[in-house]
Amino acid sequence: MLENPRRPSPDPAHPGIRPAAGAADGTPTPRRRTAPARGRRLGRLAALSGAALLLAACAAHPASVLHPQGAAARMEYRLFDFSLIIMTGVFLSVIIPLTYVILRYRQRSAAQPLPKQVEGSHFLEMLWTVVPIVLLIALAVPTVGDAFRLAAPAGPEALQVTVIGHQWWWEFRYPSLGIVTADEMHIPAGQRVELTLESADVLHSFWVPSLAGKEDTVPGQPNSMWLEADHPGTYPGQCAEFCGLSHSLMRFFVVAQTPSGFAAWVHGMQHPVTTPQTPLAAQGLSIFNQYGCGGCHTIDGTAAQGTVGPNLTGLGNRAVVVAGALQNNAADLSQWIHDPNAIIPGTVMPAFQGLSPTQMQALTAYLEGLK
Ligand code: CUA
Repeated sequence: MLENPRRPSPDPAHPGIRPAAGAADGTPTPRRRTAPARGRRLGRLAALSGAALLLAACAAHPASVLHPQGAAARMEYRLFDFSLIIMTGVFLSVIIPLTYVILRYRQRSAAQPLPKQVEGSHFLEMLWTVVPIVLLIALAVPTVGDAFRLAAPAGPEALQVTVIGHQWWWEFRYPSLGIVTADEMHIPAGQRVELTLESADVLHSFWVPSLAGKEDTVPGQPNSMWLEADHPGTYPGQCAEFCGLSHSLMRFFVVAQTPSGFAAWVHGMQHPVTTPQTPLAAQGLSIFNQYGCGGCHTIDGTAAQGTVGPNLTGLGNRAVVVAGALQNNAADLSQWIHDPNAIIPGTVMPAFQGLSPTQMQALTAYLEGLK
């Protein structure tokens, strides 16, 4: 949706002209750039990069495997760290002698003879056969161990959640609690959560970078994994497998709560407010019924029992809607209902452009009132 402002565009006036030297990123630049101008440009670039880094550091729980926030993510991060140390060692043990040899034995004149050739050294042959074997074993032992630990059942204490990938949103079912929701997966912090991963259509991949590694959702083949969040917070997640037009918009959030906060959320979801609390919302309910919204959406405790789209029970309590593409407020909801394709290209949600502003206001009042 966003144009890349840095994408090089051909210059129609000078089709054959290549970007000036120094524009390594291909940005079209004037052919002659003075030194101070280049300096200013570099300065601006440095300032921008610095600002971006600072802003990235501001996020409480960035979607990064480098900031593990739970047991599973930490296990994977340690493996990453360990391999990085080994790889750095390998890199340096190759690059340092290589640099030395290049400098020390470079040809200084055409008459210079070849340096002494070393071949058939048993010691060297053994060294570069045995060392990689030892390194691979050192990497394999913890990797296989962690793979088994991550695949092991999370235990009877674990909360069970079924995650279902849809084009392009995430559904979360809590079979033992009788709850179905979308976009936000609520979990208790400090407790293991065992996920059963399924797909309603194509391959997706469930990924919450700061809580655990990726796991595919495969049609007809349930997968499982567990994760845990150390502390309450909101952890961004993203579909990590190309799944069609709006793959990149298939986001979600894991909301980890204190045990009491989670219990309150569960109670709220099990006893949802479904009757309109205002005359406007009551009018919205009749529009909801008139347009057959319940054919695709479920609202627990009402006649709406559709399963094509997200379950809307407790919608008013969510921070985000539409897979995190929109905030949960009347304006954003109206925009979605009016033209869903403008937000999530290719979505099966039909557009309701015939609704008058007053009708839309009533409908969103009803939806926002679902607490
Ligand atoms: Cu679902 Cu990509």
